[in-house]
Amino acid sequence: MKKVLFAAAEAVPFIKTGGLADVAGSLPFAFPPEDWDVRVMLPAYTCIPAPWQEAMRDVTHFDVWFNGKYRYLGVRELTHRGLHFYFIDNEEYFGGPAPYTDYMYDIEKFCFFSFAVLAVLPHLDFRPDIIHCHDWHTGLIPPYLATQFKYDPFFADMKTVFTIHNLKFQGICGRDELRSISGLPAELFAQGPLCSGSCGNMMQGALHYADAVTTVSQTYAKEICTPEYGEGLDRFFAERRDRFWGIVNGIDDSVFDPATDPALKRHYDVSRVKSGKAAAKASLQKELGLDQDPDVFLLGIVSRLTDQKGMDLVLPLLEKLTGGPCQLVVLGTGEKHYEESFRLMAGARPNKMAVVTTYDEPLSHRIYAGTDAFLMPSRFEPCGLSQLIALRYGSLPIVRATGGLKDTVRSLDKEGLNATGFVFEDYDVGGLNWAIELAMKTFFGGKKTWEQMRRNAMREDFSWKRSAVEYSKLYEQLIE
Ligand code: ADP
Ligand code: GLC
Repeated sequence: MKKVLFAAAEAVPFIKTGGLADVAGSLPFAFPPEDWDVRVMLPAYTCIPAPWQEAMRDVTHFDVWFNGKYRYLGVRELTHRGLHFYFIDNEEYFGGPAPYTDYMYDIEKFCFFSFAVLAVLPHLDFRPDIIHCHDWHTGLIPPYLATQFKYDPFFADMKTVFTIHNLKFQGICGRDELRSISGLPAELFAQGPLCSGSCGNMMQGALHYADAVTTVSQTYAKEICTPEYGEGLDRFFAERRDRFWGIVNGIDDSVFDPATDPALKRHYDVSRVKSGKAAAKASLQKELGLDQDPDVFLLGIVSRLTDQKGMDLVLPLLEKLTGGPCQLVVLGTGEKHYEESFRLMAGARPNKMAVVTTYDEPLSHRIYAGTDAFLMPSRFEPCGLSQLIALRYGSLPIVRATGGLKDTVRSLDKEGLNATGFVFEDYDVGGLNWAIELAMKTFFGGKKTWEQMRRNAMREDFSWKRSAVEYSKLYEQLIE
């Protein structure tokens, strides 16, 4: 039995702010349990809902010397759907109302988390062959393993995989601060692995020391070799092209399933898509106070409201969209100016546009189900899960040709009746407008093509199985 430990800052169903949580909490289930023992380690945030906290058992606790003093380090565990989840406990670091709080404090808490993941391992009855680290929060695991922990025979031959979910966030702070918080050897900061000039960089440490580096789609893997997408590290990726994998994400098709979804009043699958979508649309319009018109073109957005997600392209089109035979539903949180602009517009046309600026999982499912099309005009998108969920619920994605969006949506203008959505190339308002107009033309112009595309979309297989096969191949290469 080969053993893998996922280390991540979030995972469903315990704590989620975005797609990272979906990946860390669902990919582990896709490995055949007779071959792979995959477990997950997370921070024991005190904001994890109480029922989960109550289900956790204490495994052990002790004190560790970290950033200038002895600190409490506990491990808790629970089993969920047959899988082991471990939680690193330290209330000082993982207390508070949300997983991410203050930028500099986040750096310190995830340095601690990276250190703690390794420090607790000899105390568990589980010795992973591979630690699969996700995003910058776990960036110091490979450097710690290569330095402070390498003298302990327990860690001999342990390998690390590092997956980049979003290169925009690297865990950057002052070089001297990172050195003093992490306690990593000074030579790592003199020129090299953990710094660029006077900046310390946690993700860079992982890229340098991990045995393999992956990202979450093939197109993003290529894009980040260029200065436009490389966030200052493009040369690093370009030089290591051969050691660098792009493995596209999947979704948990048992959770995101319109045939069984508890958030929906009426269930449907591809054979009952017409009536199922019509019912979902009517009930979404009612729930959000929109005109209950079955013939209007209903567009949805479920997203972090940030520049990454192309919200600056959507705003200039709102007036025109809601002035025509179109309605728009937005569920998202993020930059205040986006939240306010959307709210303002919705206030002016409440029968045409609804905006909810909270995090609401069940409502998000009803939006995927109730909308005709789903807007995701991202500036960059490492993979994107929202468009995969939209496909599964028969809401046709309108996306920009970048990262995972390019790899997972087939455009009508190129693929004809095999298409699953509408894809535009250039990041500008004109491009998005063209794609929306094509979608509306298809929607209103006789329903045959639309219905065919909707069936194509719902039949796509984005379950985790394919990705798990790719990851298993990678793991096997490392431990054989
Ligand atoms: P990212 O991780 O960059 O935010 P993804 O498309 O990979 O983007 O994943 C976003 C995930 O978060 C999806 O599961 C989406 O449904 C969910 N999501 C985003 N915003 C909200 C919200 N306000 N309420 C509920 N779910 C949301
Ligand atoms: C990041 C990316 C998103 C990706 C997700 C899970 O949040 O922005 O594109 O789908 O991670 O890998």
